[in-house]
Amino acid sequence: MSSHDNSHEDHLPEGRGGEEGGAVEPADNPFADPGLPPHEPRQQDIDERAAKRSERTVALFFTASMVATIAFIASFVALPVDKIIYVFPLGHISALNFALGLTLGIALFTIGAGAVHWARTLMSDVEIADERHPIEASPEVKAKVLDDFRQGAAESGFGRRKLARNTLFGALALVPLSGLVLLRDLGPLPQDKLRHTKWGKGKRLINQNTNEALRPEDIVVGSLTFAMPEGMSEEDHDFQTQIAKAALMLVRLQPENIKDKRELDWSHDGIVAFSKICTHVGCPINLYEQQTHHVLCPCHQSTFDLSDGGRVIFGPAGHALPQLRIGVNKDGYLEAKGDFAEPVGPAFWERG
Ligand code: FES
Repeated sequence: MSSHDNSHEDHLPEGRGGEEGGAVEPADNPFADPGLPPHEPRQQDIDERAAKRSERTVALFFTASMVATIAFIASFVALPVDKIIYVFPLGHISALNFALGLTLGIALFTIGAGAVHWARTLMSDVEIADERHPIEASPEVKAKVLDDFRQGAAESGFGRRKLARNTLFGALALVPLSGLVLLRDLGPLPQDKLRHTKWGKGKRLINQNTNEALRPEDIVVGSLTFAMPEGMSEEDHDFQTQIAKAALMLVRLQPENIKDKRELDWSHDGIVAFSKICTHVGCPINLYEQQTHHVLCPCHQSTFDLSDGGRVIFGPAGHALPQLRIGVNKDGYLEAKGDFAEPVGPAFWERG
């Protein structure tokens, strides 16, 4: 769209004599380059009022785009997901989908229509011809390109046509909001679900293999026992979601081997209960080394010391395994004294 007023003449083919428009070729050369037709100025080129009218049309398109984007956001917020309407000839369709598609379509189309109208009526339409030249640009050519670019930018009226330019900026600034609003469709926010599990005060520890409530004597030295909270069943619709947070592992240590004071306080007779979910990216931990009291995550080899508060001693995990405070109820079963004191599994943004 950029042009160079003089380049028209500068680059006319030999034989045309550089005449402006429709040169007469010698009758004996029927293959001669007929050259460019004479440039015909448009109404907008000669009449500033016509140019102003075009500018207002362009601005109208861009303003329509802004209105459509706002309507898109309003539709997203106001229309219920399950509302069905009849639209000829589409039939019965979702009102929300129809409104979103229509408004976003208008928002994008009117930006394009405004840009095309601007280019066709206000930007320079002087045709230019250039000879083929070596691919490598000489410094003069580079300077000329830069010059043409500047001239094109000036001729586009980008600086002068402030109304069109500003409304274009407005339309381009608003259109991305449509995408931002759609992010809301990623699903409900997790709120505090990541901070709580099915564990709670008085919930008995159920052996995950036998589904039996665990007693202290069931936990033997050297073994790793997996448990889940009382009241959970594999038939529950959210069982996998809940067990992914509540999975627990129990080991029995000699109380004198427990180095961490809080761990000792939260244990029962040397039995300690830790989250089974690795704090790196959440794999289930299932390898236990009896001599060292270390547990190992098979995914990326994070290693935790169960005799020292579940501390990370090797690997990429970012923090210690959360411990569950346990005790024994009056019937002699192991029970939780509450939920985990901190979120289980990998760190997340708001965890702090
Ligand atoms: S998930 Fe456990 S080390 Fe990566």
